[in-house]
Formats: sequence, C-alpha cells, structure tokens
Amino acid sequence: MVFDQKNIISISDFSKDDIEYILRLSEKMEPIARSKKQSNVLSGKILGMLFYEPSTRTRLSFEAAMKRLGGSTIGFAEANVISATKGENLTDTVKIVGEYSDAIVIRHNMEGTARFASSVVDVPVINAGDGAGQHPTQTLLDLYTMKRVLGKIDDLHVALVGDLKYGRTVHSLAYALAMFDVKMSFVSPPELKMPDGIVHDLNRVGVSIKETTDIHNVLDDSDVLYVTRIQKERFPDPEEYSKIKGAYMIDEKLLEDTELIVMHPLPRIDEISYDVDNTKYGRYFEQAFYGVPVRMALLKSIIDSFE
Ligand code: NCD
Repeated sequence: MVFDQKNIISISDFSKDDIEYILRLSEKMEPIARSKKQSNVLSGKILGMLFYEPSTRTRLSFEAAMKRLGGSTIGFAEANVISATKGENLTDTVKIVGEYSDAIVIRHNMEGTARFASSVVDVPVINAGDGAGQHPTQTLLDLYTMKRVLGKIDDLHVALVGDLKYGRTVHSLAYALAMFDVKMSFVSPPELKMPDGIVHDLNRVGVSIKETTDIHNVLDDSDVLYVTRIQKERFPDPEEYSKIKGAYMIDEKLLEDTELIVMHPLPRIDEISYDVDNTKYGRYFEQAFYGVPVRMALLKSIIDSFE
C-alpha cells in the first residue's frame, strides 16, 4: 500500500485494504485529536487549502488535523479574497500554492477540478468536494463513524436519504460501501434519484440496492440512515428546488422503535429535527468530530514518508 505522495481525487483511488488501513490509523490518531497525546510528525510541513466553495467542517477539520500533527496551513476560505477576482486563472493559483505547500486540499463547484489541479502540480492533491462529483475524505470519516459506532461495516444495511442526484457525499459513499459486504437503499424524491451511471456501476459489482421514495420502507431493517441536505446551489432552476425542499423530515417520533443510527455530513437545513440531536439515534456531531482523526491519518500517510 503506497500512500506517500498519492492524490486523493475519488474514493475509487482506494482499495478496500487502503480504506481499512486509514480507518485503523484513525483510531490511533484519536487521542491526539482529543489533545490527550501530542505529536509533531508533520512538523515543518504545510498544507495548502484552496476553498472556492463554502465549508465549515471540512476546512476546519483539515486545519485542526494538520495542526494537531505539528504542521501548519495556508490558503483561503473564499475565492473573493484571492487574485481570481483580478482575473487570475485556476491553473496559475494552484501552481503557485503547490510551490508553497507539501500537499493541496481543494474544493470547487465544478466537477473534475481536483483531478485537473492534480495534473498541474507536483504535490499531492486532495479533493474536498468537486461540484456534484465526489467527496472522498468525507466518505472515509463516514465509514469510520460506522465502524466506531456499530463496530463494523460489513453486513450493515445503509439507507442513503435525500438529494442523491447532486449530493457528492452519497456518490463517494455508495462506491465505498460497494467494496464491503453491505445492503444499500436509496431514498429520494424521483427528481433526485442516484444517477443511473452510479447505480449501474454498483449493480455491476453485485451490490443489492433498493430504491424507494418512501422513507418508511427502510426504517425497519436499516442500521444507518445517512441523511443529506437538498443541494440548493446545484439546481439550475430555483423553482425546482422550492418544489422539493422539505421532502424528508426525520424526527424522534419517526425513529421510535427502530434500531438505527442517523448520520448526516452536515450542514442540515430542515431534514433532521433538533429533537433527534440528543437521542441514541443522532450521531452526526460525533461523525463531524471524526473528521479530525481521519484527516490526520490521511495527511500523515500522504505527506510523511518516514514511518
Ligand atoms: C457536504 C459537502 O460539502 O458536500 N458538507 C461537508 O463537507 N460536510 C454536504 C453538504 O454540503 O450538504
């Protein structure tokens, strides 16, 4: 398994063994992420952070991960503070930041941007979300959450709920889960179904998938409800968004008598009621914390070549 200097663009850049390696290393990183232990393994290393789209958890947990390991970060959290506003193109910006850093994290609203960035710099590039494409590091922390909370990934039944068309987290997650022995259900309004290409890829590797518009159809035998926000910013027509918003509303009453856990990449808008937050079902805040140890494991593996 060679992570050193590897680009992380799509979850398919990982094998199941790679994923399991990162999840094991994440567990070792947890005490450092919680400040119970110290590490300087990335001392002197710099992570370049190019966030052309808004982000809270992804950006801050990458920053925390780097700093917990003794490294540091440079970069921007919104494109209007950089020379792009003066007309500089993405290639030039990425090239320059590549010269200043040991690895680059990039988020952009255009699918394919991270892949493109990786072709113009020599340092490893990590995709922190490219439009409706993929979000592979979110997937690693999603898998880590399942493993930590439920003790396993194999044999789970995971229901992906909400905007399966534009949601990049569910695209990466579906591909990753397909490497394990899982059952998947897709719950969405008809307009926001999982893209055919992805369903086709999953069927080809023999994953059993149930597609439904009614969340009640998956409550009884799911282990995980992975709920997502309707991706308003990706709708070509705002009218279409207003017709679909509020399609699903998960509240404590709906979950009564079930054994499942509720995950969400966050931010939530109105798809999970606040009354779920402090129940045994709601695991999304814990999930958000796991972004730190998982990204520590990833950064250590990619940047630090000395074991
Ligand atoms: C997600 C994203 O940016 O794709 N957020 C995140 O990284 N935790 C989900 C979303 O924005 O809905």
